[in-house]
Amino acid sequence: MAYLAPSILSADLTRLQEQIKIVEQNGADLIHVDVMDGHFVPNLTFGPMMVEAVKRITALPVDAHLMVNDPMKFIDWFAKVEPRYITIHQEACVHLDRAINHIKNLGCKAGVSINPATPVETIRHLLNSVDLVLIMSVNPGFGGQSFIPYTLQKIQELARMRQEMKASFLIEVDGGINTQTAPSVLQAGADVLVAGNAIFKAESIAQACAALKELTKKFGTGK
Ligand code: DX5
Ligand code: ZN
Repeated sequence: MAYLAPSILSADLTRLQEQIKIVEQNGADLIHVDVMDGHFVPNLTFGPMMVEAVKRITALPVDAHLMVNDPMKFIDWFAKVEPRYITIHQEACVHLDRAINHIKNLGCKAGVSINPATPVETIRHLLNSVDLVLIMSVNPGFGGQSFIPYTLQKIQELARMRQEMKASFLIEVDGGINTQTAPSVLQAGADVLVAGNAIFKAESIAQACAALKELTKKFGTGK
């Protein structure tokens, strides 16, 4: 078993309520909200107001993925609207340890994310502090990109480190997840799959979501 986190980046925002209800009824465990600042990534998306709106639509926990420079500037704003997870990027934060502790002190679960080219080793010392590690399997900024195969090794390496360190964070994987890529990602050790295009751009959102959920049951090794 593993969790499924549909990303509303690919949803039709004019039908957000209806589409969130559909994924909720078809196996979604979390709702993933991609926050982009136009600096850390070349795209602009949502702020805390979107997290707050999603929380009024669904009882599912919200997973806020902050692709922003200097996340310390934004953590308080996001914590106020109470997503379950606030995930920040290693590459965007000089005082990462401080920022992770700040998220936890404000009552949210803390996640750290690394881009495809960032080695897992760079977050080793945080692995006993974080609740979630998000491995980017595309270069962040846009939905609908192709999965980068070498990131599979990073998932395996992280799963090994977790075992050795007896740590308990979740391993989340984001980017290019679909029914073709999901099995190997799950077998490598992922506990949470993020999927945008594969769900919200499908002909049937319900079927696409249910199909991915089935794969999390079949191939998920952890949660
Ligand atoms: C990419 C975002 C992803 C995005 C994934 O920068 O972090 O969460 O929604 O989209 P797909 O599943 O379409 O690759
Ligand atoms: Zn994301």
